[in-house]
Amino acid sequence: MCGIIGYAGELQAPDVIIDGLKKLEYRGYDSAGLSVFNNGEIKTIKSIGRIINLEELKNKNQDELISNVGIGHTRWATHGKPSEKNAHPHFTDKVSIVHNGIIENYLKLKKCLEEKNYVFETETDSEIVAKLLDYYYQGDPIQAISKVISRLEGAFALAIMFKDQPQKIYGARKECPLIVALGENQNFIASDINAVLEYTNKYYNIDYQEIIEISKDSVEILDIDGNKIKKQINIANWNVAAAQKCGYEHFMLKEINEQPQAINSTISPRIIDFLPDFNYDNIDSDYLKKFNKIFIVACGTAMYAGMVGKDLIEKIARVPVEVDVASEFRYRDPILTKQDLLIVISQSGETADTLAALRLAKSKQIETLAIVNVVGSSIAREADKVITTFAGPEIAVASTKAYIVQVAVMYLLSIKLALVNQKLDKNQAREYIKILMQMPEAISDVIGLSDNIKNIATKYQNTKDMFFLGRGLDFATCLEGSLKLKEISYICCQPYQAGELKHGTISLITDNIPVVCVATQTNLFDKMISNIKEVKARGAKTIFLTTPELETKIEKEIIDDIILLPCIKDIFMPFVIVPVFQLMAYHMGIIKDCDVDKPRNLAKSVTVE
Ligand code: G6P
Repeated sequence: MCGIIGYAGELQAPDVIIDGLKKLEYRGYDSAGLSVFNNGEIKTIKSIGRIINLEELKNKNQDELISNVGIGHTRWATHGKPSEKNAHPHFTDKVSIVHNGIIENYLKLKKCLEEKNYVFETETDSEIVAKLLDYYYQGDPIQAISKVISRLEGAFALAIMFKDQPQKIYGARKECPLIVALGENQNFIASDINAVLEYTNKYYNIDYQEIIEISKDSVEILDIDGNKIKKQINIANWNVAAAQKCGYEHFMLKEINEQPQAINSTISPRIIDFLPDFNYDNIDSDYLKKFNKIFIVACGTAMYAGMVGKDLIEKIARVPVEVDVASEFRYRDPILTKQDLLIVISQSGETADTLAALRLAKSKQIETLAIVNVVGSSIAREADKVITTFAGPEIAVASTKAYIVQVAVMYLLSIKLALVNQKLDKNQAREYIKILMQMPEAISDVIGLSDNIKNIATKYQNTKDMFFLGRGLDFATCLEGSLKLKEISYICCQPYQAGELKHGTISLITDNIPVVCVATQTNLFDKMISNIKEVKARGAKTIFLTTPELETKIEKEIIDDIILLPCIKDIFMPFVIVPVFQLMAYHMGIIKDCDVDKPRNLAKSVTVE
């Protein structure tokens, strides 16, 4: 949700900034801009659309932009449509700023400044920050920033340049992420470390009420009174290659293919003697024993990983689980007791609603456990316990490998909970874990079906609507499958519990409408087949996902297309179903000429409500 970069060093700042913005583009991509110091002036360029447009503009204005210090921004519009005017940086004669987040009290502040004769030119909330800094700035940047941030309500990450401080970049944050990265003869401010991994993997996390000042050879972190703060340096263990396409045409395809490895990396440190073991995360059996009920709260794909988790935990460990969308949970006054555990799931660890849900639980002294992919992210830092997933950097906006590792953690956790609650004995638990350890190979087999999946996508490429039907655990996978197809190929998809369809939505089933039928759960198979017949009788085209074993029980007349999945224990089927959906979405998106890595209107890291 908007990407920020600031640079002070020896290289050409516009090049470093453009390069960094390309890495941050997943955070928003409707417009972009940069400011640099040049000949005692701040020079700013902005363009609508992707970073490549800004790069072309930069190339045309090369001479005016020669500089070693500057800031840049890629935008995901919240206030004001994507336009050159609304693009960042926003500036005055004294100052230029880029902003990520939402300033909730901007109208009030705007009114105050208008009374002081400031004129506003954009529809954004961000412009207020530039004007307010201009108002307060009297030669002391830290004092001015300190005054400004104490007046801002809402969420922000800022990178700031003052015209009379030409070697320096400043920054501050509240809720939205911001790091300071440390290079040799160069330093950076960025929304995340990926933006600058090419130059350094050392960084500081910045907290609220801290102000950063960087130059080529110095980094200062100060509190709002201007006192220096000492912080611990973090080292990112993601390498540059992990954030590059490495020969794949798209990040999404690369990340789908990385799933077996991502699962291995995530589960290996948490399996000892074929049993789940969370000592790696400082979580022991006594800790997990004390909860009577679990809430799983997340957004988007992460929430759908939670839906699989609910099914597993309730089935295997017999602990009741509620799953909630974070934006609902935080405002619905949930009934929480001291015996409850709140699990939040987040790839980025920065999603505003998920973070708020976590804080809500903490404010009620409820124990919190975060499953997070980004080490050092806000959610990872604030939760009582953290299980880090090792998917590596996920660049494609739509989540694939981050989902599968979240699901893998759900299996480990449910088996562990079953052990501590004596619902499984060690031998039974070992059987489960042995199957879990085979999942990377099973996923590789499914990825091998890519051509088959592509043929099916080609056949249905002109459809406008689609349905996904499943029961139980299969339905949980349908939620993620239909989301993937919506995000990537813009087909309107409805996931439905197969038995529920007849209560209204079946009215939408007409001739030739494709219906993806997931039938892998043996105990629900006959019911599922009856429901599939109901749609077939109304002209639907069926795309079956099932196993060779179950296929023998299906009448050929009701199958239009079929994808045969590896035969594995029913409860593990999400591992092989979801990669099929990911590939279906990917191929459909490519066939329809969609930008599969950056679908329209989306952002990967949603740091606003
Ligand atoms: C955005 C992304 C989704 C993601 C969701 C939650 O909407 O586009 O792919 O699932 O945020 O993100 P998180 O980082 O919390 O998992």
